[in-house]
Amino acid sequence: MGNKMRVGIIFGGKSGEHEISLMSATSILRAMDPNKYDTLLIGITKKGEWLLYDGPIDLIETGEWERIAREQMKKDPDTYRFSVVGTSSYLKEQVDVLFPVLHGPFGEDGTIQGLFEMADIPYVGAGVLASSTGMDKVIAKKLFKQAGLPVSDFLMFLRNQIEENPADCVEQIEAHLNYPVFVKPANLGSSVGITKARNREELLYALETAAKYDRKIIVEASVNCREIECAVLGNEEPKASVVGEILPSNEFYDYQAKYLDDGKSKLCIPADIPEEKAEEIRRMAIQVYKTIDCAGLARVDFFLEKETMKVYVNEINTMPGFTKYSMYPLLWEATGLPYSKLIDRLIALALERYEDKKRNRIR
Ligand SMILES: Nc1ncnc2c1ncn2[C@@H]1O[C@H](COP(=O)(O)OP(=O)(O)O)[C@@H](O)[C@H]1O
Ligand SMILES: [Mg+2]
Repeated sequence: MGNKMRVGIIFGGKSGEHEISLMSATSILRAMDPNKYDTLLIGITKKGEWLLYDGPIDLIETGEWERIAREQMKKDPDTYRFSVVGTSSYLKEQVDVLFPVLHGPFGEDGTIQGLFEMADIPYVGAGVLASSTGMDKVIAKKLFKQAGLPVSDFLMFLRNQIEENPADCVEQIEAHLNYPVFVKPANLGSSVGITKARNREELLYALETAAKYDRKIIVEASVNCREIECAVLGNEEPKASVVGEILPSNEFYDYQAKYLDDGKSKLCIPADIPEEKAEEIRRMAIQVYKTIDCAGLARVDFFLEKETMKVYVNEINTMPGFTKYSMYPLLWEATGLPYSKLIDRLIALALERYEDKKRNRIR
């Protein structure tokens, strides 16, 4: 092992973004310099089981890793069997730093970050608070608004309100917002459960749909917009990348446009917008990042209203897609930080943050 840094890469996960995570992790593993890093691979199945994986990187994306990991566990249970409960002390011995390449609930929402904190292991990315705040669209928007950042008007409903009195919800929405409106589960990603509702009938359906996925639902004024994204990197002094534009293949950037249309959604880097707009967005991205006390990395997504060129903050993603073709690394590439250097930087930031936090414990 020598002086190589030992990095635990955690991939898969219980969320709907399991497959994206497999792709992100594959890209990361292929780019990590074996002279600098030893890796320990930990896959989390869709059901939430943790498995150590010691096989070819190519079999992660295809999902075959799971079968191999199970076979390894059968052959040598002492080495390979470890449950979440046993994870913390085991991992602390095995790795210097963890990289949770997990998107969505149970990966990007502070839950696994809490486990790492308890286990006292440095990890890449945002801490518990920023992760959970960034995941919750209602809490995040409230904080952005409070910080003076522009967000589109929104209302919040709980599932029980929708189930018990949908007509009242509709009445409140129609009193505050004009159609079309966007209805979303508050704590999800990948556009799952999101509907653009153009009238009352569609609104009722949209509320029901979103309520299937979450107990908390956000209803937002629709912005006729271009979608601009900015990558942020750093701890105490975060830096913003050039900005990029998403050109969705559908009417909006829904699940289909994100993952199924085989590359028909396009990324335009840098975005073709006036330099002073890009500068405004970069400044705002850092403000958004600091508002939730983020660390490591995040992609901040904006709406640029077509008619007025007004900028709205849409959301912050604390573990954005990280394949070689994903917006986040491409934005840094265009800013002069190539993919493998970006990974080095993220690991260094994780260690810096850990060391910095240790100082809080000195009594
Ligand atoms: N208020 C809005 N106005 C216009 N388009 C929206 C609005 N909210 C969401 N969208 C569209 O829906 C997509 C997904 O919404 P988003 O809030 O980013 O959820 P997710 O976390 O699933 O990515 C956006 O990328 C955009 O295309
Ligand atoms: Mg989004």
